[in-house]
Amino acid sequence: MKKNKDFIHFLLSLYKPVKLLTFVMIFSMIISQIFNLIKQYIIKGMIDLPSNPNFEVPNLYQVAITLILIIILELLFYYISNIVRTIHMVKKQTPYISQKLFSHLNKKSYSFFINNFSGKITSSINEVNKKIGELNTRMTTGFVSLLTSMISSLIILYTIDLKIFLTASILFIGIIITRVIYFSKAYLPLIQKSQEISREYDGVLNDAVLNFTTLKVYSAVESFSKTLKNKKEEVNDYRNKASTKEFTYGALANLAYIVTFVMLLLYSIHQYGNHLMTLGSLIFFINAMISLKTSTTSFSWAYIHIGEYLVVLKNCYDLLYDDINIEDGQKENIVVDHGNIEFQNVTFKYSKNNILENFDLTIKEKQKIGIIGVSGSGKTTLVNLLFKFYKPQKGKIFIDGKNIYDYNTLSIYEKLTYVPQETILLHTTIYENIKIAKPSASEEEIINAAKKAELHEFIEKLDDQYNTIVGERGIKLSGGQRQRIALARIFLRDAKIVVFDEATSSLDNNTEFKIQQNIHQYFQDQTIICIAHRLSTLKDMDDIIVIDNGNIIDSGKPEDIIPKYDKIDFERIENEN
Ligand SMILES: Nc1ncnc2c1ncn2[C@@H]1O[C@H](COP(=O)(O)OP(=O)(O)OP(=O)(O)O)[C@@H](O)[C@H]1O
Ligand SMILES: [Mg+2]
Repeated sequence: MKKNKDFIHFLLSLYKPVKLLTFVMIFSMIISQIFNLIKQYIIKGMIDLPSNPNFEVPNLYQVAITLILIIILELLFYYISNIVRTIHMVKKQTPYISQKLFSHLNKKSYSFFINNFSGKITSSINEVNKKIGELNTRMTTGFVSLLTSMISSLIILYTIDLKIFLTASILFIGIIITRVIYFSKAYLPLIQKSQEISREYDGVLNDAVLNFTTLKVYSAVESFSKTLKNKKEEVNDYRNKASTKEFTYGALANLAYIVTFVMLLLYSIHQYGNHLMTLGSLIFFINAMISLKTSTTSFSWAYIHIGEYLVVLKNCYDLLYDDINIEDGQKENIVVDHGNIEFQNVTFKYSKNNILENFDLTIKEKQKIGIIGVSGSGKTTLVNLLFKFYKPQKGKIFIDGKNIYDYNTLSIYEKLTYVPQETILLHTTIYENIKIAKPSASEEEIINAAKKAELHEFIEKLDDQYNTIVGERGIKLSGGQRQRIALARIFLRDAKIVVFDEATSSLDNNTEFKIQQNIHQYFQDQTIICIAHRLSTLKDMDDIIVIDNGNIIDSGKPEDIIPKYDKIDFERIENEN
């Protein structure tokens, strides 16, 4: 229940910058429909005018002028409503929604991005924008306009004949109510299911396009295209089932309408024949019944579409807004003055097996610590925990004596920075890719950072230099060049703790040596954690720890540890233990 309330709150929040415009859009449509009602009255009056004993031709002209005025007003308000919706609302609302939803991703956990296809997330953000636009259209041109026109038609019937009014009201309100119930029970769940699969389809397609070369090299394109075909067929199956249900219902509703209409028509002709109804009223009855039929069908469709949009919006909401750690945003910002780190009795598992068990590690401020260990021993996991990407099942992690779980995550990222094991770049220029580490950085700062990462000379040789586009995920650069962009980012940050996870693994010895020198020169006052397989990388560290199976199995100065482990196969150690 609370979830539905939160969803409505979310929907309303999307209208924050366009409250007044929304009001103008709906209000103008209602006014336009009221003029439409008045217009119909005037036409009825005009038809009945000649049968009035006091009829004079100039009266007809007067009424005609009033009619033209009313039609102009009706169209004017209709126009205002449409202009507000299609131009002004779109102009203000869509950029607002894009920004709001994208910034919101900042609150999502690390596992959210790991567990969901990026295509699914992107399509959810796009869908919200698209569906809100469509919702606005259906709300005004469908819902509000048709509801007002239905009410007007019923008012007309009421003024013509009470019996006709009551019978028509029962028919049309009955059709709407049963359609709404039928729709919610039979139609909506099918649409919901098709939507879910459709978003999965987007995710798989996105993932496949992103990894197309891999699929091609392994001759897997055909089998993937079959998966996509099956998913699309599944989407269509649910849609078709939903449409069949809707058509069946539509046919039954039409039958009820035709029978009632013919009965009421016979009755009205009978009344007209007995001079109990004027010609204007008879024409009006027919006109109102036809218009009621059109509005009821369109109204039901508007309702169905609005329902569909709400389902899509709810699905997107669930994906984007579920599991957010609201508490986190309300926590205090951490202050890191020194850069001390302590893992205290930490036990952690991703799923079944413990990766770390009662793990203790203390790193003093300004200490430069190297971490080595076989692949899969838990080195990156340590970084994941320090960055709060995951929460340990047991134990605590402190930075400067403060339990990181008591503090706001974003504030921690301001004082911690890292070069991840795999560098993925944005599909933009080298310049912009470095700049993301510090959006306020000047050109000079960016060039300096590139120099420290031994990247400047290489960039200078490129045709477009710093404006070279790196390609999706940085595909146009070599692994080592990508790593150096990630390193340049680090040099821009004002962090107290810097973590390198295999940050120089793709570089040649000479470049790595120069960068290591820069790291030691520029990060003298920082705490450094450096994970590496190539032990020579760690020769200037203060200490090195050796991790195996999530435990520290050895530690010491580089001069002791490096010779000891340089030639030793970790797997052998594992077996010996
Ligand atoms: N997100 C995840 N979900 C489930 N298991 C994971 C996840 N990330 C890592 N693991 C598993 O946890 C173990 C430790 O992984 P981790 O990445 O910490 O190893 P590592 O020491 O950094 O290895 P490498 O030297 O290859 O980078 C591995 O067995 C890995 O398969
Ligand atoms: Mg790793």
